Amino acid sequence: MSNTTMKAVVNLDVPGPTISRHLYGHFAEHLGRCIYDGFYVGEGSAVPNVGGIRTDIVDALRALDIPNLRWPGGCFADEYHWRDGIGPKESRPSMVNTHWGNVVENNHFGTHEFMDLCEMLGAEPYISGNVGSGTVQEMSEWVEYLTRSGDSPMSRLRRENGREEPWKVKFWGIGNETWGCGGNMRAEYFADLARQYATYCKNHGDNTLYRVASGARDDDYSWTEALMKSISCLGCSQGPRNIYQATSFHYYTSAPAWENKGRATSFSDDEYDQTMANAWRIDEIIAGHSRVMDCYDPQARIGLVCDEWGTWWKTEEGTNPSFLFQQNALRDALVASLHFDIFHKHARRLVMANIAQTVNVLQAMVLTDGERFVLTPTYHVFEMNKDHQDAVNLPLHVTHDSPRRAVDGREFESVSASASVKDGRVLVSMTNLDLHDDARIRLDLRGAGWTLGEGRILTASSVQAHNTVDDLSAVAPEKFDGAQRDGESLVVDLPAHSFATVQLSVEQ
Ligand code: AHR
Repeated sequence: MSNTTMKAVVNLDVPGPTISRHLYGHFAEHLGRCIYDGFYVGEGSAVPNVGGIRTDIVDALRALDIPNLRWPGGCFADEYHWRDGIGPKESRPSMVNTHWGNVVENNHFGTHEFMDLCEMLGAEPYISGNVGSGTVQEMSEWVEYLTRSGDSPMSRLRRENGREEPWKVKFWGIGNETWGCGGNMRAEYFADLARQYATYCKNHGDNTLYRVASGARDDDYSWTEALMKSISCLGCSQGPRNIYQATSFHYYTSAPAWENKGRATSFSDDEYDQTMANAWRIDEIIAGHSRVMDCYDPQARIGLVCDEWGTWWKTEEGTNPSFLFQQNALRDALVASLHFDIFHKHARRLVMANIAQTVNVLQAMVLTDGERFVLTPTYHVFEMNKDHQDAVNLPLHVTHDSPRRAVDGREFESVSASASVKDGRVLVSMTNLDLHDDARIRLDLRGAGWTLGEGRILTASSVQAHNTVDDLSAVAPEKFDGAQRDGESLVVDLPAHSFATVQLSVEQ
């Protein structure tokens, strides 16, 4: 029996903004075992691969409909020189990956391998260019190498390396965390650099770029303001100048504190609640950046991109601390499902988000162990939620406050939900963060007739539950029959610490 209830109205005939599929983006950095020993095992490996790329992982990830993949970093991007990663592998120069364990990078996974990976995944590439230690010319030539047809110095070089036709690469990051590992710059200085680099990243033929200026850390709204100011034309009607098309920010969830990270699978009830209070912070952070952007760009022509998000725990014992390898429990899945509800709510301004990172690093979808691999609880949230991609958001108008929990004097809502519609099918996603109490969600669905469809649930006996190679489905989706129709209302009884999705068909 439910102890707590959230009530909301959903107007099926009043659509909100479209939820860009790119909110379900991913991130793969040359960090620890994400690329090497993760995605890429090399052509000589006993693990089945095509051109060195692991096919079993690609197959598993294809089920998520990954819309875009960000690469090569992160911090690594600002010491990466793309010319070192093209041509015959045996003659590619190596380098030291100073950010992530000082390991030697042999550059065997480079531009062509990344583009092959994107093609295999069916994902659009999102390339982070080097501003910290690179040059404007270097980035400009990378764009030319990838996207220019006909005869030019870079298209000739690409052909010499075996690729005749240019690729389509829309998304380009101008630097990464330029306030930190990407150059320790001040906002005003970077704002000018972003304009300069963006200017020389050209549209070749019909490949129109979407340039993302490296943005703020967490709630540093002054960084966003400096960027917006630098492309604004205050007082003119045409809005911001079309130099770059988006600005980003990064936000990670940890507990008990950023400086004192807890473990991924052994944590107290308090640490769990602190995690959820910290995860909720991304709501006010997106709202804060959006407010600043609204002042300079009321028409929302410039997008907001959260190109790094997710949980960050202490690395697993016995692993290299610089490799950021962590297990992934039901708690991580609930952090992810909460983030998606928040992202959907902000879909007008928020155009892209990338979880960190896809394989073996931070909040991963897949953890590998030699030839074997595990799908994490977070993987299942991405899969269960994939029909929100490019669907129309249906805002929830909460009429009866959501139940709340408190930790360290901070309150947070313990129930969250979102809904969207695409091709006459509604997907409702619901999360009960409460550790102990069930919750009831009552949604009054107005404006159109509807029929109740299938439900699925992701939960386990504890929030510490996680999958291992010996127990692949300790946390895996199951059929859910806790949703019922009561007149015009959808009534859902959600067990403690669970995530559920329910499908509806609407009369069009
Ligand atoms: O995702 C790991 C690191 O976190 C990235 O390299 C960096 O951008 C951020 O600080």
